[in-house]
Amino acid sequence: MARSIKLGVLGSGSGSNMQAILDAIDAGTLNAEIVIVLSDNPDGYILERARRAGIPAGVIDCGGFMSKFPDEKQAEAAQRLKEAGVELVCLAGFMRLVKQPMLDYFPQRILNIHPSLLPAYPGLMAWKQAVKDGATESGCTVHYVDAGMDTGPIIKQVRVPVLADDTSESLHERIQVAEHKLYPEVITNVAIGL
Ligand code: GAR
Repeated sequence: MARSIKLGVLGSGSGSNMQAILDAIDAGTLNAEIVIVLSDNPDGYILERARRAGIPAGVIDCGGFMSKFPDEKQAEAAQRLKEAGVELVCLAGFMRLVKQPMLDYFPQRILNIHPSLLPAYPGLMAWKQAVKDGATESGCTVHYVDAGMDTGPIIKQVRVPVLADDTSESLHERIQVAEHKLYPEVITNVAIGL
């Protein structure tokens, strides 16, 4: 049987994707352990979910910057992940751009889930961009993280139709259902290769 892999999760919001990873671990379909959760948002519900699951959790304090992820904060976060023994980093709704030096600490070992069929609609609120654009199809993508914005090598995508009466919220809800299946599945497959 494959060994259990140690995951570190970075998030900013509700943490439903982290919950899906935890549920897959509990169900025995993903042989992994989340050893640390970090959030740049002290009020993110992801921290509450981590506490309830008994997972060490902490805040990355970006000192009032709205979207910037300062180099020294990236190094600090990477060190905390390393100290926790993390082998694979999963961005789960993390809204800051991960780049050097984080990438140096975890080369080819940072995954992100994004709510569109990349390369379409990178960046924030991809579901809003899709509805505004009149797209008939969207979806979600899991990819390796590189220094660009949602530009890293794509691992797997799932298509989600945009319905005629979709609002951005209803589309995001259906994309999230797809995300919650896709992310644990991809992590399982990536972990096998580590
Ligand atoms: C998810 O839909 C995720 O794909 C998206 O934020 C949401 C977080 O939800 N990520 C991005 O937009 C990254 N650019 P969650 O906190 O409930 O997992």
